[in-house]
Amino acid sequence: MRNESPVLQACQDEDDFRTTIRNCLRRKPRSIPPKYFYDARGSELFDLICTTPEYYPTRAETGILDQFGAHMAKLIGTSCALIELGSGSATKTPLLLRHLAEDAAYVPIDICEPHLLQSTRRLKTMFPAMHMQPLCADYTRLPHLVLEDHKNLRRVIFFPGSTIGNYAPDEAVQLLRHAAQLAGRNGALLIGVDCKKSPAMLNAAYNDASGYTAAFNLNLLVRIKSELGAQLDPGGFAHYAYYNTSPGRIELHLVSRQRQIIRLDDESFHFDKGESIHTENSYKYSTREFELLARKAGWYPKMLWADRKGLFNVHYLSQSPTEPRNLPRHAY
Ligand code: AVJ
Repeated sequence: MRNESPVLQACQDEDDFRTTIRNCLRRKPRSIPPKYFYDARGSELFDLICTTPEYYPTRAETGILDQFGAHMAKLIGTSCALIELGSGSATKTPLLLRHLAEDAAYVPIDICEPHLLQSTRRLKTMFPAMHMQPLCADYTRLPHLVLEDHKNLRRVIFFPGSTIGNYAPDEAVQLLRHAAQLAGRNGALLIGVDCKKSPAMLNAAYNDASGYTAAFNLNLLVRIKSELGAQLDPGGFAHYAYYNTSPGRIELHLVSRQRQIIRLDDESFHFDKGESIHTENSYKYSTREFELLARKAGWYPKMLWADRKGLFNVHYLSQSPTEPRNLPRHAY
């Protein structure tokens, strides 16, 4: 059925992965974009992270969507195409879809095809009447994505999970600008953003006692070894995550436990003891900081929901400065 088969566009291929990793290992300091975490195992480990007591963002955001989903759907209105960026296993999405009008279309975009297929199939059984158009693609290449025409549908970009935190503020503005272009004049954006909070709480969230975050981080090396045939010992590296206060971000690193060499194709990459590969940034934003950033990308903040502890925000923004503001603007 056309509905259920994802359109393949820019799915991760081996060449892209190999070229990226080679270039990442050549330059110093070394860093690898976090999107490469998400092979089947990485996506599974991320889901496990979300179940740990320390990793609060998923629970906080789920609570917000559960409590305010109806209000969100009301602002979104009827006849919308909900375009979810990096939908993954889309566990939170039903909390919104269940309130959307019958004529809504759902367009999940994800880089991991098995996850995309599985989650779309699950959502289709939950909402059989809803039109679904899964798209296997890298949403960071938004300007190159070809979406089906949604003639009479208002495009609403759904970007939960605080994934926007993976981008440096200037890149985040760029991505939100592309999202604005995709959404069009009439469009809207519903986005989850993790808030600034105590370093202790942040550090705990990225150093869970079960070790899932460590396994998630190290899985990148496992991938490089198994998929690219690199000679390397993942056990020779340690997971390291900490909140870097001045840029306001969590940093994930893979730190070399000793002097060692990674061999990829015909190249050798030397590591001193303590040398790291920077694998992820997760920026945290106050409400004001994020609204300012979104305004730079051409979005107008319209509504904000948060959990009671103020750990997490869901922002609703539109392309139109005149779309009525709904008061009160903050709901807790
Ligand atoms: C998927 C980007 C929201 O930054 O919290 C969780 C990924 N990395 N634990 C985050 C992640 C380590 C996560 N995001």
